[in-house]
Formats: sequence, structure tokens, C-alpha cells
Amino acid sequence: MTEISALLQEDRRFPPSERWRTTANITDPGIYDRALADPEGFWDRFARELEWIAPWDAVLEWNPPHARWFVGGKLNVSANCLDRHVRTARRNKAAIVWEGEPGDRRTLTYWDLFREVSAFANVLKSLGVKRGERVALYLPLVPELAVAMLACARIGAVHSVVFGGFSAESLRDRINDAQAVLLVTADGGYRRGQVVPLKQTADEALAGAPSIKNVIVVQRHAGAPIPVDITEGRDHWYHRLMQHAGSSCEPEAMDAEDMLYILYTSGTTGKPKGIVHTTGGYLVGTYATTKWVFDLKEDDVYWCTADIGWVTGHSYVVYGPLANGATVLMYEGAPDWPHKDRFWEMIDRHGVTVFYTAPTAIRAFMRWGTEWPAKRRLDTLRLLGSVGEPINPEAWIWYHLNIGRERCPIVDTWWQTETGMIMITPLPGVTSTKPGSATRAFPGVAAEIRNAKGERIETGGGLLALTKPWPAMLRGIYGDPDRYLTQYWSRWTDGAYFTGDGARRDEDGFFWLLGRVDDVLNVAGHRLGTMEVESALVDHPTVAEAAVVGRSHEIKGQAVAAFVTLKEGFKPSDALAEALKEHVVRKIGAIARPDQILFSADLPKTRSGKIMRRLLRDIAEGKALGDTSTLADPAVVARLKTQYEEKEG
Ligand code: WT7
Repeated sequence: MTEISALLQEDRRFPPSERWRTTANITDPGIYDRALADPEGFWDRFARELEWIAPWDAVLEWNPPHARWFVGGKLNVSANCLDRHVRTARRNKAAIVWEGEPGDRRTLTYWDLFREVSAFANVLKSLGVKRGERVALYLPLVPELAVAMLACARIGAVHSVVFGGFSAESLRDRINDAQAVLLVTADGGYRRGQVVPLKQTADEALAGAPSIKNVIVVQRHAGAPIPVDITEGRDHWYHRLMQHAGSSCEPEAMDAEDMLYILYTSGTTGKPKGIVHTTGGYLVGTYATTKWVFDLKEDDVYWCTADIGWVTGHSYVVYGPLANGATVLMYEGAPDWPHKDRFWEMIDRHGVTVFYTAPTAIRAFMRWGTEWPAKRRLDTLRLLGSVGEPINPEAWIWYHLNIGRERCPIVDTWWQTETGMIMITPLPGVTSTKPGSATRAFPGVAAEIRNAKGERIETGGGLLALTKPWPAMLRGIYGDPDRYLTQYWSRWTDGAYFTGDGARRDEDGFFWLLGRVDDVLNVAGHRLGTMEVESALVDHPTVAEAAVVGRSHEIKGQAVAAFVTLKEGFKPSDALAEALKEHVVRKIGAIARPDQILFSADLPKTRSGKIMRRLLRDIAEGKALGDTSTLADPAVVARLKTQYEEKEG
């Protein structure tokens, strides 16, 4: 097999093979120019492949920064993901092939899923859920999560999925922000052999969430029920309600601009933002990108390993693939359970053809060693994807050699919760890839690099801007129109969208993503605001002040490093550091757990009292300190650096 070092040194390109160039869903390089010349016509053609209850009058109405796509069009997302397929030979095709972590398995055909979604839609209606009302979903990665999302879409309710790893407090804040009327949860789920007691956490959240009138509890494993408290009148078992539910439910005719879902994501303040996605444009954008980027064919077995609690799961586990009538593999648990080859074993067992995962996972696989994938055939795979953070060329090449076996193109897809759909990506039948580059904007999407003056630059580094509206774009931040404007649309004055990412464009016009330029971290492919972690820390009774920065981490990409000043009368100790870490986990969830806590009597501040995170980052990265001339007291940072180095040993 080819050596990693040789491939890296060669600075190689990976052009599509003859087979890919001739058989992919899109093979014509001319598509970029054609889409650029007429983006609305480009999206219009994809929209016509879907099913509409009423046609649109205009593809786009753009009053920056407010877009309306498929104006006047009416459709139902669940009908597009289900009814449209059950009227064809896809009726008996597997829609969801699911494996639980303990090894239990279920397969739902399109017909099964159609019936289950219709029945659950009736259940929601019977509990009084109305069109436009919000429904919170706090579930493990089980088919019922997809069922609940599609059932909401069917009756026009707005779902707000909260990742099962979030704490009670995070769940409560999200429920309250959205004023959700109903919560769907489960007795629990499985992760690394442990039960995750979701209902118990939900009960804690619900103590401060009065908008919730009803709770539906999925029994994760009928053979092994997880003990829960049931509040009479409020809590109902999913399986009981479903016994009495009618299996036919007419899909609501939704306006293209009706809200489909809210998904919370971290920003630069302590409070997560409820990103709003609507119906028509979102479906068109996820449908189109799934079809062309993942090249889905009728016989594919497609596996995106993301949790549905993140946007990747919304767009590329549920809506995009099901709108394409694909067979979707879902797996509940950890990649190293019971062994470090669980993913590779599953790829062989189910004959997975398209596999989409995150660089943090790939780096963990690298660390675990090639012997794990080497034991497996992996010969059904034909296409690999990456998402969530920049993929370092070493990881790209490792993926190419050890998983793709030098046979599968890799699509490195850049996008965000806000963009809803993949924005920068190779097209596997068109693009010659370079390890580490997400390559070019998807046809119809306009991306560019801007310098500090806001000017477009053809090559070199700067801020990544999106200069044209796109169908799956966010329509707002729930309940906070001002933040929508300031966060995304105020950096430039010409109606361009600010991504928050730094990037470089090379001589071939390829984009190389460089990470966030704001106070947002990317820990294991998940977004985390430094302010959120700081708020959690200062909430602890011993903490006077906290500053959080990211530091490079071999597997996670970034890890959380916290600098903490204690209140008078409290002394630093390892035990207190542990207690603070636990406090953050309890406030936010395990993803926010600081790797490191450094106690310090002072934090480096400017003369106006602003904490200089840049210097803390230098310290956390073990770098030479940058300019310290604006500090009120330069000695503080010098002391901190010494202290840090002593601790790191
Ligand atoms: C941020 C968005 C949307 C997928 C899951 C993350 C980073 C995402 C890539 C990539 C380099 C990437 C960016 C972006 N990111 N994909 N292929 N290459 N960076 O969604 O939580 O909304 O985070 O993830 O920094 O802004 P998210």
C-alpha cells in the first residue's frame, strides 16, 4: 500500500476515475458556469423534482438579509420523504436500517415509516399539538427520532431537536426559548455500554419548563425497560399511544416559507441561538446536495454517522437522504463499542456504499491503528465524506488509504447549522480533490474570501463570505431578529453573509478552511461558545472570573482550556478543578468539559478591562506571547505563562 508520507510529499491531486466521470449523478464541469449564470433556474429545476401541492410564483424574493424561496409554493416535507416514495417501487425498500449499540436491530421500509409517521402525527394531534407550535425532541439515535421529526413536519408543527448529550439545564433553556408545548423523550439510550437516563434528565429540565403540557416517552428497549418516574396526566408511553392511533394522516399543505424546525447552536454570547429553517428552500437545498455530493443511486446504503441532534443529522441523516428515497443506516452508539472496529464491522454487515463522518472520528481511528479496518473487507464502499471541521491532510490520506482503499473519492463538505445544506464541496464525478481542501462552492452557491477592508481577493487568506442567497439558508434566529442582523449581516454592507470562518483560496480557486475567527470553538466537530463555558464557570460559587480559549487537540481538533480566578477565601486545588469541570458538564453537557483549568490570581486585561483571549490562546498553545503592549499589567501574563508551563511539565 502507498505510504502516507509519500502521498503527502507529492502534493497529489485526486481526479475522479473514468468510471466516476461517466456515471456520477453530475459529470458535467460546465454546470458551475451555467448555475452561476442563472442560479434561480438552477434551483428551480431541483424543486421540480419534488412534489408540490401548489406551485411557486417566484423562485426567490431577496430583500437583504431576508429571503423568501419558492414564493407562494405549498408542499409538505414528510409527503416528499414518504408518500412520494410509497406510490412507487420504493414502497418496500428499506428506508431506515437501524442498529442499537447493544446489538438490537430494526429495519423500516418506506411503507413502515410512512405508517409510523402518520400514526405519530395523529398522536401529536390527539394531544392538541397545532400547526406552528413547537415540539421538543430529546432522544437517543433511534428511528423514533426521525419518526417524530417527520410527524411534526406532517402536521406543520415545528421541531426543536436537543442533542441527548446536553444537560437538563441546556434542555430547559431550549424548551423555554422556543416555548415548546410537548416533549418527546425516551426512558434512556446506550452509550459505551452505559445507560443514558434521558427521562430522568428531562424531568429535571421540566421542573422549570411550564410551557410543556405533555411528554411522550419512548421505551428504548422493550426487553430491558429503564426505570423512570411517570407523572400522571403529563407523561405518556409512546407505544401505548401508538396502539390507538389511526395510521392515516393527511399531510398539511405548508407554505414554502413556513417554519420546519429550530435548531440551537452556539454563538459568541453565552446564549445559544435558535436557528430557524423553513420548508421549501430547505428541502430543495438538502435534496439537491444529497443527490449530487453523495451521488445517491437506488441501491446505495448510505451512512452518515452524525447524531440527529446536530444539523448534519437533520439534513443528511433525515431530510436529504429520505427526500432522495435512499436507504439510510442509523447507529445509536459509540464507534469503539464493544470493539474499535464497530463501524467497519457494520459497513460489512450492511454493505454500506456511502460513508460520511467527521475528522475527529477519523483521527481517533488513526490513533487506534490500521489493524481495526484491515480486518474488514469494506469492499462495498464507493464514496467517503467528511464534515464538521477542517480535515488535516494526514487524516484525509489515512481515510483514503485505509477506509477508501484508494478506490473511493472523498468529499470534504463545508457548511454550518445556519447554511442548512452543504456549501463548499467537491462533486465526486467532476472535481479533482486535494487533501485538506473543501474545494469549490456547490453550483449555484457563491463564496469568496474578503480581506480586512472587505474587498474580494482571488487568492490568499481572509474571511469567508457567502455573496448570494441559497435555498436552505437560515431565515432568522428564533425570537431575536436583531441578533440575526448583527451576527451574520453587519460585517459587510453589500448583503453578503458572514460565516465566522477564516479561509484561504489557492491558485486553482480552491478553498481551504482555517477555522473560526470568532469566540466559537469547534470541539470534536461540535460548536461551543467560549462565553457559554465562561458563564457556566462563573455560576460556580467559588469562581470570580473565567476566560475560556481553545487549544489544539490531537483528536478533538480543539479542546477547552479555562483560566479561572477564584473569589476571596477559596484556594486552588486539583479537587476544585475537578469540581469545576463537573459543574460545566452539569450546566451544559459532556461536550463542554474543560480539558484544563488553570487558576490565576489575575487575568491579562487591556487598560479598558477587556480580557485578552489572544494572549491566553498563546499560553494554552505553548506559543511565544504576541504583542503585550496594550495590557494594563504585562507581568500578569508572564506569570501565567510560567505557571502554565510548570503545570504542563
Ligand atoms: C462550523 C459549523 C455543518 C456541519 C457540522 C458543523 C466548521 C464544518 C467543515 C469543513 C472546515 C468545517 C466551520 C463552520 N466546519 N465543516 N468541511 N471544513 N470546517 O456544523 O456546528 O454549525 O459548525 O464547523 O468552522 O463554521 P456547526
